[in-house]
Amino acid sequence: MKKRILAGFALIGAMALAATGCASGAGGGTASGGGGGKVITVGFAQTGSESGWRSANTESMKDAFSAKNGFKLIFNAADNKPENQIAAVRSFINQGVDAIVIAPVVTTGWDDVLKEAKDAGIPVVLEDRTIDGSSDLYKAWIGDDFKKEGETAGAWAATNLGSKATNMVVLEGTTGSAPAIDRATGFDDAIKGTQIKTLDSQTGNFTRADGKTVMEGFLQKYGKTINLLFAQNDDMGLGALDAIKAAGLTPGKDIQIITIDATHDGLQAAANGEFNYVVECNPLLGPTVADTVKAILAGKDVPKAQTATDASFTPEQAKAALPDRKY
Ligand code: AHR
Repeated sequence: MKKRILAGFALIGAMALAATGCASGAGGGTASGGGGGKVITVGFAQTGSESGWRSANTESMKDAFSAKNGFKLIFNAADNKPENQIAAVRSFINQGVDAIVIAPVVTTGWDDVLKEAKDAGIPVVLEDRTIDGSSDLYKAWIGDDFKKEGETAGAWAATNLGSKATNMVVLEGTTGSAPAIDRATGFDDAIKGTQIKTLDSQTGNFTRADGKTVMEGFLQKYGKTINLLFAQNDDMGLGALDAIKAAGLTPGKDIQIITIDATHDGLQAAANGEFNYVVECNPLLGPTVADTVKAILAGKDVPKAQTATDASFTPEQAKAALPDRKY
């Protein structure tokens, strides 16, 4: 049966992996050390380098899959092109790595290459994003609950703006990616029955540059009628700030802005009063992924899904959180 793992049912990794002797929760901790055994070769197929969140995630993965922790990491960034990513996974299989970790650019198109990995006896772990496909084809997923992030963002909009006529534009993430799909579903569910109307919704590919360009288009088309922007990540929201200011409008006041990720730059925009609400998506998944790979290769049972815990921030909360922000 084909079914995408939904993040909500997951166990927190600390509980399950503690039982295997590897302690860390999804989104925190440090990967356990090498222990003097054989070096574990892991191929990591990253999406690309589209956002601040992605940079933090890549750093977390590289730190956790370090030589000090007993790994040799073969890293590939696919420039957000699904075909590049599938080619990278095939190359990992051909190189005979011990395990493969994938942050899938999009949810579809995975069956053939995952079957090839399974036939080669190479375990696959998904990190960050989920896929549509049989869950038999991978051992575990570690990431954030994108639908819940969208719901949290939408609940803020419903509470603060839902009882008056509000015109919203949306900057979507990469088309076909799990966060773009699930955040939209969660947000739309949360604003059902309110007076928030979606004027337009287009992809900004999770990048600042595209966030700016698409927002410029929205402003040309809808001008001052826009009251609310939901940007599915901080970077697109940050790009949109330039477009909004260039149009002579004040972000956070003329147009209220909600974003997701809560990177340092996103929280700084909230602390400056330019973002009104920011929902966290924790990128520090490396230690849990590394411990999970080690447990799988040691023949231990691992949870099928481990979900990081995410907070959310008003401007005041962002100000308080900034000094200790790790990404
Ligand atoms: O998959 C997580 C998303 O991908 C982050 O929200 C976004 O910034 C990134 O590029």
